[in-house]
Amino acid sequence: MSRPVQARRLEGIDKNIWVEFVKLAATYSKVNLGQGFPDFPPPDFLTEAFTRALGGQNHMLHQYTRAFGHPPLVTVLAQFFKKLLGRDLDPMTNVMVTVGAYQALFCCFQALVDEGDEVIIIEPFFDCYEPMVRMAGGTPVFVPLRPNPPKDGKLMSSADWQLDPAELASKFSERTKAIVLNSPNNPLGKVFSRGELGLIAELCVKHDVLCISDEVYEWLVYDGKQHIRIASLQGMWDRTVTVGSAGKTFSVTGWKVGWVVGPDRLLQHLRTVHQNSVYHCATIAQEAVAQGFQRELRLYGKPESYFVQLPKELQQKRDWLVQSLDGVGMKPIIPEGTYFLVADISQFKSDVPDVPNSDEPYDYRFAKWMIKSKVNGSGPFCCLCPGWVCAHCEEATLKAANEILQKWKQEKTSS
Ligand SMILES: Cc1ncc(COP(=O)(O)O)c(C=O)c1O
Repeated sequence: MSRPVQARRLEGIDKNIWVEFVKLAATYSKVNLGQGFPDFPPPDFLTEAFTRALGGQNHMLHQYTRAFGHPPLVTVLAQFFKKLLGRDLDPMTNVMVTVGAYQALFCCFQALVDEGDEVIIIEPFFDCYEPMVRMAGGTPVFVPLRPNPPKDGKLMSSADWQLDPAELASKFSERTKAIVLNSPNNPLGKVFSRGELGLIAELCVKHDVLCISDEVYEWLVYDGKQHIRIASLQGMWDRTVTVGSAGKTFSVTGWKVGWVVGPDRLLQHLRTVHQNSVYHCATIAQEAVAQGFQRELRLYGKPESYFVQLPKELQQKRDWLVQSLDGVGMKPIIPEGTYFLVADISQFKSDVPDVPNSDEPYDYRFAKWMIKSKVNGSGPFCCLCPGWVCAHCEEATLKAANEILQKWKQEKTSS
């Protein structure tokens, strides 16, 4: 049995931060701020649609539906994105439904990236982009968002993190096949401005590069900011695949319904990957999501719309969390969107015990130390993932986290 069993393309991509931290959190934490999904219920109209689909007369909803997307769902997504992108869409060729945005991303990389292709990834990024590029045989080329802290001593905002235009341009070459854009961005919460997107678009057009635009947090944008879709910019429709997620859109991450919207010239290749891997997605979940979108289409822009209500609610929670972290001396970077919040924890370096001979980065060690350390009377500390916490929890979770943080501060100051 000396033959290697592992395919070479899996080398170096076997570690996953979520696997590690979910286990740690389950072992030690009472309050988990690092889970990456809502702990509050989804909207009633959506769960009711699911129940109706499950118990209704249409028994065909228990069977396979169209492989590339349940017809009612692709139809309403085409109607919705027509509004958002300002162009007519064919539900059968311009939309494809996937098992969450994760599978949509996998289809994009497998369908569009070849051995030797370079793919530009903007840092910081959602962790799966890099291994997915590598699995497709591509080479990731990183370009960082660089911080430009305000001079007046105010807290930084995710808008203060920007691309250096010359540095970005230097990453494009004849080997570049695609760029991955994630706006609103996980983990920073940055919402790219029209100017920033224009710069990316210009470079894509100039170098004939594709854009994989992960927009799963498209409705979670705060402070009246506008989410701009890069596919709507000049010259970009034909070279962009836009990825979305019902999990983030309707707070039902466990349903795993996602989609891709784009031109047929790109989507036809994504369909090839899809039909040779997953093929069908769960019919009932697609039916319920379709009904959710039909409702949102009727209420578009109105105060009753979930897409209007959810960001309002989350913005308030973001503000609490900012206050709470600021209160204990962490320096939160105020996110303009998403579930997430990144905080500067460099001033706690002396609190975190050194681990001899460990090459683990400080933020990993800090998060682990936080999860495992006991705060008097509170039990194990809340879970933070390296570098970020989630602001989308239930009020009770945020309050419990705040209490623990305040106790931690008291203990620190009295010791
Ligand atoms: C930026 C980003 N893209 C894609 C996904 C995956 O979404 P889904 O749960 O729909 O697969 C996530 C999930 O956390 C995400 O943060």
